[in-house]
Amino acid sequence: MSKNVIWWIGVKNDMYADKYGGWDWMDCSRKSWEFWCKKNDVLFIALDEPIETDLKRFRVNWQKAILAFDELDKRGIDYDQICLIDGAAIVKWDMPNFFNLTDRKLTAWRDMDNMRWVHDSIKGYKEFFNGFELDQSKYVNSSPMIFNKDHKEVFQSFKKLYYENVDKFVELQDKIVRRGTEQTPLNYWLQINNVEIKTDLSLSYKLTHIHRKQMFGHNWQLQEDPTPFFIKYGYIWYMQGFPKEDRNKVTLQVWDMIKHNYDESYILNKIDHKDSDKDTTSNKFKEDILLFFKDYKEKTILELGSNKGNTTRVYSECFKSVIGVEHNPDNLDISKQRCSDVSNVEFILADVYSDSFKFPKTDVVHIDAGHNHDQVCRDIDICINQGNKPILIFDDCSTKRYTDGTIGNTIRTAIDEKINEGKIQLIKYIGANAGYESGNGKVLTGAEGMICRVI
Ligand SMILES: C[S@@+](CC[C@H](N)C(=O)[O-])C[C@H]1O[C@@H](n2cnc3c(N)ncnc32)[C@H](O)[C@@H]1O
Repeated sequence: MSKNVIWWIGVKNDMYADKYGGWDWMDCSRKSWEFWCKKNDVLFIALDEPIETDLKRFRVNWQKAILAFDELDKRGIDYDQICLIDGAAIVKWDMPNFFNLTDRKLTAWRDMDNMRWVHDSIKGYKEFFNGFELDQSKYVNSSPMIFNKDHKEVFQSFKKLYYENVDKFVELQDKIVRRGTEQTPLNYWLQINNVEIKTDLSLSYKLTHIHRKQMFGHNWQLQEDPTPFFIKYGYIWYMQGFPKEDRNKVTLQVWDMIKHNYDESYILNKIDHKDSDKDTTSNKFKEDILLFFKDYKEKTILELGSNKGNTTRVYSECFKSVIGVEHNPDNLDISKQRCSDVSNVEFILADVYSDSFKFPKTDVVHIDAGHNHDQVCRDIDICINQGNKPILIFDDCSTKRYTDGTIGNTIRTAIDEKINEGKIQLIKYIGANAGYESGNGKVLTGAEGMICRVI
């Protein structure tokens, strides 16, 4: 079956090594995409050796655009959609699969970082394209750019145009316009040929000039989450726009901070998350747990409704001991298997709501068994009445709204009731946010999780 392809461009060309401050930063991009592709069943195909060897006449950027289809055909790759990606782009480990968002249109992102540069570049190529009035408001970047077989013809004619005019293009590019390589001519060609371009996907998929947007920092005033903004809000990070001598340094520093996420033996890469199993928590929920409870190594936690042990296994990283309670024996068996590599987890097969079940007293309780209002209220009350003021974690907090505007009797209404009664207090929201789609296609309407304290 044909698969989607990341057509990754990373030619370490000695001729330009100095201009780009060496090439080490490219390896980080490559590792990130190789990981993401494997996780999302996408083919990673690298253009790491030039196809045309005369790099003065055939810059790598030109080759990536005009030879993509030929090269995939030559390599015998049965492709579906193709995404052009520059070797300066690092993908976040848990970026959603953007191939599912294209509506099978040519999908690209607006280039608005330097409107003057774009304007001058468009002006510079106008005469070559017979005075065509290019609409700058539709000018897009050539990485990422997603397209499919329907666009083969337009890319092949673009190739023909280049081969028939190589010397003219090189002259414009190197001596006259000096604003970019293939990007502006490609924009002209797509608009001249009336190609419909989808440009409404989030800018998170093309986060450029991170330092100019001050996104290497975090909200230090809140003193709760030191995660830099670019990691929180971006999916594809372009490591460019720095002085060339800083590029390697900054990229390698970033990589050092995040590289564990791309390691298959890292705990969050060994378990399931909400995107594939609706019953568990999201990757983000578990990341937040690891961060919030990083200093709880001497504490204990009780998880009511441990399901298949996915979040339980994360708790075992943070706490001295973990107790998981589950009434479904099949789930319990899977949980035991999932946590078989650690020795601080105990599972109890029990119905949390039977009178015979007594809550073990712990420092933290994850309330996640019954999901109706009364069950959650009961769980909270028992925790409160134990007298040791445990920290409470809630999952599935996203409020259910019906079409008539009424709000369902969910976990969230029970929590809000207890907050309004002054019995518990919100510490912070955790996990995925509104808009996140889980494994069964259900979309969150609000924060996935909450951490509360008993007052
Ligand atoms: C949403 S899942 C919990 C997800 C899990 N905490 C995680 O993060 O992966 C709810 C679990 O609670 C269990 N459950 C429901 N009612 C229960 C009860 N009365 N006693 C014990 N477990 C129960 C279900 O079998 C299910 O596995």
